Amino acid sequence: MYNQRNAAPLFSERTLFFLVFGVVTLVLVGGGIGTVSWINSQLSGFRTQANNSPNYTNYSTDPADPAKPYLQTASLTAMSKYITEHPQPQNVQILKGMDTAAIANYMVNMVAGGLKVDCTYCHVLSNGNFADDTNPQKVKARQMMLMSQDLNQNFVAQLPASVGGKQVTCATCHNGKPVNFNGGNSGALSNYPADQSPLPDTFQLKLESPADLDLLLITGKKDPDLAAVQYNQQTMTHFTQALGNGCAFCHNANYFPGNEQPPKAHALIMLKMAQHINATYKPIMNNKVPSCWMCHRGQQLPPGSANPGQIPEVLGYKPQ
Ligand code: HEC
Ligand code: HEC
Ligand code: HEC
Ligand code: HEC
Repeated sequence: MYNQRNAAPLFSERTLFFLVFGVVTLVLVGGGIGTVSWINSQLSGFRTQANNSPNYTNYSTDPADPAKPYLQTASLTAMSKYITEHPQPQNVQILKGMDTAAIANYMVNMVAGGLKVDCTYCHVLSNGNFADDTNPQKVKARQMMLMSQDLNQNFVAQLPASVGGKQVTCATCHNGKPVNFNGGNSGALSNYPADQSPLPDTFQLKLESPADLDLLLITGKKDPDLAAVQYNQQTMTHFTQALGNGCAFCHNANYFPGNEQPPKAHALIMLKMAQHINATYKPIMNNKVPSCWMCHRGQQLPPGSANPGQIPEVLGYKPQ
């Protein structure tokens, strides 16, 4: 009896304890998970994202694949037939030393994949002849290959291997579109999500002459005019937006003229590359003005750039 009288309240107290304990634990754990995932969601915009562009990886030969609607079955059939009939290519000017199968592989993944277009965008396939040059887009694509080669060998190759060893390929600029991939006609910044860009719509990187690089230096100038300061600020804003990084990625924020941070030197090489693109290749780029955003798209390394071994050797540089 004694035990029974005592056991009952003891039991319910315990139950109460576990009930309260359980509810408090649930609330704490739930709140904790909620807070962590909220912080996570806030931070995700600041993280460097995966460097493999879905524009040119994960290729599937199934044209019915909703991710690959741009390749036609007829083109792929013509491709297989052409490879069997011509194990060696008939009319290559740039991709020398590659057999037809290797060229076709590059075409599928990097060229058609990089622009998300069918083979017929460049090849006249009424006779299944991939060697035919009558489509002017094919001739233009050759010039684009030479441009990519030039950028890789003369600029990207100057970056130390520690940066990532990535190289320029069609998707680096095109990002899955043949034209207008950089927004509007100006080809400048109009592709920025509006709420992220404090830049005036009309701002373009000034790339006209090498002297423009000096325009960026304002520290220590006695009376830097307002235009120079504005130019520096807009360019630096472009850099941070385009690369998805803050000022301190490139600068010692206590002394902007300093050169402690390697990315600053890398950015200077890139700026010269952008000037070179502007000076040399605007005519083949439908007069579009290049920008850092064109390749970087808010990421430290351009999402459409190629990993080592993904592009034909002739179009890249050999890492030391
Ligand atoms: C954006 C334009 C473009 C697209 C799209 C394209 N190609 Fe090409 N293709 C070219 C160029 C340019 C060459 C010539 C390269 C050279 O001269 O070194 C070429 C050459 C070839 C050759 C070698 C032909 C020969 O014998 O000389 C094959 C095979 C080929 N392409 C297959 C394909 C296939 C398959 C597709 C679709 C998956 C495709 N291409 C999509 C531009 C393109
Ligand atoms: C440095 C950036 C850059 C690279 C790298 C690049 N392109 Fe282009 N390409 C452009 C620009 C900019 C245009 C003009 C787009 C527009 O008019 O909106 C263009 C236009 C083209 C066009 C003409 C499209 C049309 O219908 O007018 C073709 C074809 C083309 N590129 C193929 C290629 C191929 C193939 C590669 C890879 C071998 C390549 N591009 C690499 C920047 C680039
Ligand atoms: C991607 C790298 C990069 C980022 C990010 C960047 N800068 Fe720069 N900054 C440079 C380069 C390159 C120069 C020019 C250096 C040269 O010409 O020698 C420069 C120059 C400057 C100068 C002039 C320094 C001088 O010597 O007179 C100032 C000031 C400056 N940046 C401020 C900023 C601010 C503020 C931010 C953030 C909003 C920023 N930068 C973000 C690369 C960067
Ligand atoms: C034609 C495409 C292209 C354009 C335009 C371009 N970049 Fe790059 N950039 C690349 C590639 C590709 C890499 C990666 C190289 C590697 O992995 O080694 C790179 C790497 C960099 C890096 C190195 C990051 C690090 O960790 O140090 C910086 C900084 C950079 N770019 C700044 C710029 C700036 C600033 C501009 C505009 C003036 C610009 N880029 C324009 C293609 C481009």
